[in-house]
Amino acid sequence: MTQHQRLLIIDFGSQVTQLIARRLRELNVYCEIHPYQNVTDAFLADFAPQAIIFSGGPDSVTREGSPRPPASAFTLGVPILGICYGQQVMMQELGGLVESGHGTAEFGRAFVTPSDKKLPLLEGWFSEGTEQVWMSHGDHVSKIAPGFEVYGTSPGAPFAITADVSRNFYAVQFHPEVHHTPRGAKLYENFVRLAGFTGDWTMAGYRQQAIAQIRAQVGDAHVICGLSGGVDSSVTAILLHEAIGEQLTCVFVDHGLLRLGEAEQVVSMFRDNYNIKLIAADESDLFLGALEGVSDPEVKRKTIGKLFIDVFQKYANEIENAEFLAQGTLYPDVIESVSFSGGPSVTIKSHHNVGGLPEKMGLKLVEPLRELFKDEVRALGRELGLPDSFIGRHPFPGPGLAIRCPGEITREKLEILRKADAVYIDQIRKHGLYDEIWQAFVAILPVRTVGVMGDGRTYDYACALRAVTSVDGMTADYYPFSHEFLGETATRIINEVKGINRVTYDITSKPPGTIEWE
Ligand code: XMP
Repeated sequence: MTQHQRLLIIDFGSQVTQLIARRLRELNVYCEIHPYQNVTDAFLADFAPQAIIFSGGPDSVTREGSPRPPASAFTLGVPILGICYGQQVMMQELGGLVESGHGTAEFGRAFVTPSDKKLPLLEGWFSEGTEQVWMSHGDHVSKIAPGFEVYGTSPGAPFAITADVSRNFYAVQFHPEVHHTPRGAKLYENFVRLAGFTGDWTMAGYRQQAIAQIRAQVGDAHVICGLSGGVDSSVTAILLHEAIGEQLTCVFVDHGLLRLGEAEQVVSMFRDNYNIKLIAADESDLFLGALEGVSDPEVKRKTIGKLFIDVFQKYANEIENAEFLAQGTLYPDVIESVSFSGGPSVTIKSHHNVGGLPEKMGLKLVEPLRELFKDEVRALGRELGLPDSFIGRHPFPGPGLAIRCPGEITREKLEILRKADAVYIDQIRKHGLYDEIWQAFVAILPVRTVGVMGDGRTYDYACALRAVTSVDGMTADYYPFSHEFLGETATRIINEVKGINRVTYDITSKPPGTIEWE
């Protein structure tokens, strides 16, 4: 089995630590994020990183008991890059000085001026004199550690870029991982090159490695894989099929809350194109029956989540010799981020998944995407031959149309919603906008309004169109459609979909809104 070079990111709790990992993965460098509490000397020895990055963080190194890296990080003999808090903790630990306040806090855009000394880390920087960076610090380094020299300064950070070249230690006060540091990616590229990374993390290599790993883990046993029709579960299934062929059975549960033609599309893609053993279960009566009269969003999610597990289990029990359950868990779900809130974060929405299933059924887990970010899953999908049209599909939530039908769900409303949604998506595709949008859908509102069509009065449902841009679904902006597009779409929906006589466009961003209506 191939082993790739590994970089360790020690997380001190910055909001943007994940972005560091993304920048590195884009450079074909394998890296993992671990919270500082878990990174002990023993952990470090075992992980054996080829380089380390200290992330930013909200604490102050001047506070007693604030987060520290283990002492052995500095004696491993590997390159280290410290960012913001990571820079300050590095200085403090190596004999420099950090101070709070004194009017040198910097938040936002700043410009760094180079010193007259050259540093390989900064190759490609300063071609236009100064370099724009993103700062976000209250504390500042007031004395650098012995062995370090200054390579860049900003008005609020006299030690914006420092390095001890003999030890390959680099420290920057700003955040090179954010978009507001336009040439930040180049800095990471230089750092990994200096650290000897060859860019051995590719999806072609990962595919081979994952297949070998799945075969070794599963042996002759049988694996069950729940298919939702989304990219993650599809890529999981196809990868498993490539690894173990007939030993895989997929289960696709139609809960009656899918979009127009969706169940048929998923079933034909997997049966006809991949020849994967597939149990397609139409359980819409069961789900819609249980949801009758339910209008509370959390009760909807819980009802669907629980039934999903029951149904999945029923079908899975029919599969002989099943020992494993495959799940499309991604790396962002695995990362244990540092929480400084001191308590559990508030549940905004309880997302439904099949968690808890494996223990209940006595199954072991196969999670071949655990190391991947979403964009890497898409790249792997392409590598496995999934069509682009499928890979680029907008995310669709587990509870499906249930949460796009605020209030009580009825078959009539679902029918209307499906048709309106299909017209809307067709419009978006026809105008070539689909790939610019993170997610677009229609929500049918629990309100009827009066309209006039021809000579007659109508009294039908109102609907809301939603379209957002987003990087990860955590924050989102509404998509700025042209008025012509909105007008044309509203006309089409009202003309083509019986049951809707009013169309609105939702221009709420997230926060304060959420993407879905429930
Ligand atoms: P919100 O509405 O929370 O959505 O802004 C963020 C992203 O998550 C999806 N979403 C869900 N996915 N189960 C899922 O599998 C859920 O219960 C759920 N709720 C929201 C949503 O479609 C968007 O992509």
